[in-house]
Amino acid sequence: MKNIMILPGDGIGPEIVNETIKILDYMNSRYELGLSYEFGDIGGISIDKYGIPLKDDVLEKCKNSCAVLLGAVGGPKWDTTVPGKPRPEDALLKARKELGLFANLRPVKIYKTLMAASTIKEEVLEGVDILVVRELTGGIYFGEKNRLSDSKGEYAYDTEKYYKYEIERIARVGFKSARLRGKKVTSVDKANVLESSRFWRETVKNIHKEFEDIELNHMYVDNTSMQLIRNPRQFDVIVTSNMFGDILTDEASVISGSMGLLPSASIGLHTSVFEPIHGSYPQAAGKNIANPDATILSAAMMFEYAFNLMEEGALIREAVEKSIEQGIVTIDLSGEGKSYSTSEVGKWIVDYINKK
Ligand code: IPM
Ligand code: MN
Repeated sequence: MKNIMILPGDGIGPEIVNETIKILDYMNSRYELGLSYEFGDIGGISIDKYGIPLKDDVLEKCKNSCAVLLGAVGGPKWDTTVPGKPRPEDALLKARKELGLFANLRPVKIYKTLMAASTIKEEVLEGVDILVVRELTGGIYFGEKNRLSDSKGEYAYDTEKYYKYEIERIARVGFKSARLRGKKVTSVDKANVLESSRFWRETVKNIHKEFEDIELNHMYVDNTSMQLIRNPRQFDVIVTSNMFGDILTDEASVISGSMGLLPSASIGLHTSVFEPIHGSYPQAAGKNIANPDATILSAAMMFEYAFNLMEEGALIREAVEKSIEQGIVTIDLSGEGKSYSTSEVGKWIVDYINKK
């Protein structure tokens, strides 16, 4: 029995998760995978119902399941700058921390048929295949923060802090991932300015001694943000801190054609979580126009990483690729062509798998 905890969340979350469930259902009955689901609230919907973005019993169910599928959280309704007031995003951070999800894997790949529509030249995009390994439970996201005041007035601060063991374990994930791919790691930091980055660089260099078959280079984050769109083919695996990884993967999503295409797997000490990298896109909620591809591709990663069902995962990915190739895409990708609804895209993908 493989129990999946499903947390649809806010905005377009429920719609894109619904399409993904159709695919899970189909795969489950065809291959007798023994999948079962449980559902829970996360984010704004949980704040509305219970006053907090993630209840302990939901977290407990996540811990006890074999995998977690997450939609998206947040929206203007819950936006607040008031310190101490619950925010939907707090749920994500809490889940990441409590589940020990220190490594966030964000693959970036190119879809041939989308290249012409990209804002980046085709010859730059050709052949790009990057895996960003983002540290997910440390750094400035979780460092000490506060609002105070002194003689100069009010101020606020956040702190970037990394323990050696946190850098070591994420570096190992990076090197091990590179071993299965292009055997090259780029460690991204800001070591010309930040002490935490100098420590990061030094620690990554040390761990590299365990992986001599892997090429390692170091790059400043400002340069990386330029190189990503100037010459993205130079990258194989990028390993970086929580915040740099957050920023660089939004940028990298442009390479693949849309935010709606990038899946992710967060792995670590307990149950892994699979979710799209995009947000809850509240403007599109309920309109049946959101792109379900990133969530469906996240389910493919779940099959591979959580269940070791490599062929099934590959089949889902193939179906998504074919749907893009055939122009069965939502409005974010359709350009001048016809656009399809969220549910039409989901249905097409199930039908494709069905015919295989
Ligand atoms: C992401 C998101 C989250 C992050 C937000 C919603 C807290 O942007 O998963 O990339 O910053 O990690
Ligand atoms: Mn982000």
